[in-house]
Amino acid sequence: MRVIKVLVALLATVTFFVLLAQTDADYMGWMKSAVASKGKVAKGIAAKDKGVATDAKVMEDSFKGMEDYWTKKGVADATGFAKTARTASADAAKAIAAGDFDAANAAMTTLGGTCGGCHMAHRAKGDSGFQIK
Ligand code: HEC
Repeated sequence: MRVIKVLVALLATVTFFVLLAQTDADYMGWMKSAVASKGKVAKGIAAKDKGVATDAKVMEDSFKGMEDYWTKKGVADATGFAKTARTASADAAKAIAAGDFDAANAAMTTLGGTCGGCHMAHRAKGDSGFQIK
């Protein structure tokens, strides 16, 4: 019986860490996708290209994923930064689709204001790139 209990506990611990690792990997995927899309959106706005509304939508989805991640962890400030980034991305998508590039630029400025605050509080430099803290 004892052995079984120990095995069950061990399995639970392993499962916990696997799940944890997966969500962190997801997080990095969202961050990368948001950054790549942000580049495309900025170029598109400069060229007055309505097509990048789709990329702004991708940004919105990525920040939504990050918002959920921090909500689950119960980290209020990071949830707030991610939420502002998500709504700014949504605003940008709407403005671009409507051809209002001034409004789109304003939304991108709001979005840009969220990066530094969240990184200072929740991004750490690890041995191989960045980490979540
Ligand atoms: C809600 C918090 C939060 C917001 C908002 C945020 N980031 Fe991040 N960012 C992180 C965390 C945590 C990491 C470290 C984990 C990782 O690499 O994904 C990170 C990592 C990064 C990386 C490194 C990715 C890599 O290759 O490891 C880049 C580039 C980046 N962010 C750019 C941005 C930009 C640009 C913005 C604003 C448009 C932004 N981030 C907004 C939390 C955030």
